[in-house]
Amino acid sequence: MALDTREIYVTALKNTHALEMQALQIMERQVERLTRYPEMEEALRRHIEETHGQRTRLEEALQSLGDSPSTIKEGILGFVGNMMALGHTPAQDEILKNTYANHAFENFEIAAYESLLTIGEAAGQGGSLTGFRQSLQEEEAMARRVRELIGPTTKRYIDLTVAGEKADR
Ligand SMILES: [Fe+2]
Repeated sequence: MALDTREIYVTALKNTHALEMQALQIMERQVERLTRYPEMEEALRRHIEETHGQRTRLEEALQSLGDSPSTIKEGILGFVGNMMALGHTPAQDEILKNTYANHAFENFEIAAYESLLTIGEAAGQGGSLTGFRQSLQEEEAMARRVRELIGPTTKRYIDLTVAGEKADR
């Protein structure tokens, strides 16, 4: 069964939309729980705002093609999703597991947007691509921020744990 480039593009838009919906769920759950890691909390809050905009860009692109986001909750994350699930299990080192998972997740999104841009170009959909390039830059910035926070977050985790204080989140 052959698909044309427009159909491939619509599928990519729907998959990326499902990914952003998962992103929002994951980040909102973390933000609610965080108490001892204000820098990570701030980075997540800012990226939640950006992600709402990313989601709108995808919805507008689908609407312009006469389509709409899939109502089926697609689990497109595969093994990254399994890593994310780790963070939902109460653990003394919850913050560390979430930090690793956030780093993986942002890089997963970078790959998804690179791919979406290539598919959009092949489908002759130049109009929406400026917005998706911005989304890609936002994912890259968040991936860098999470990477920068790995060291300081781990140090704070060690200090709190050694002092017998609450360190998990
Ligand atoms: Fe993201």
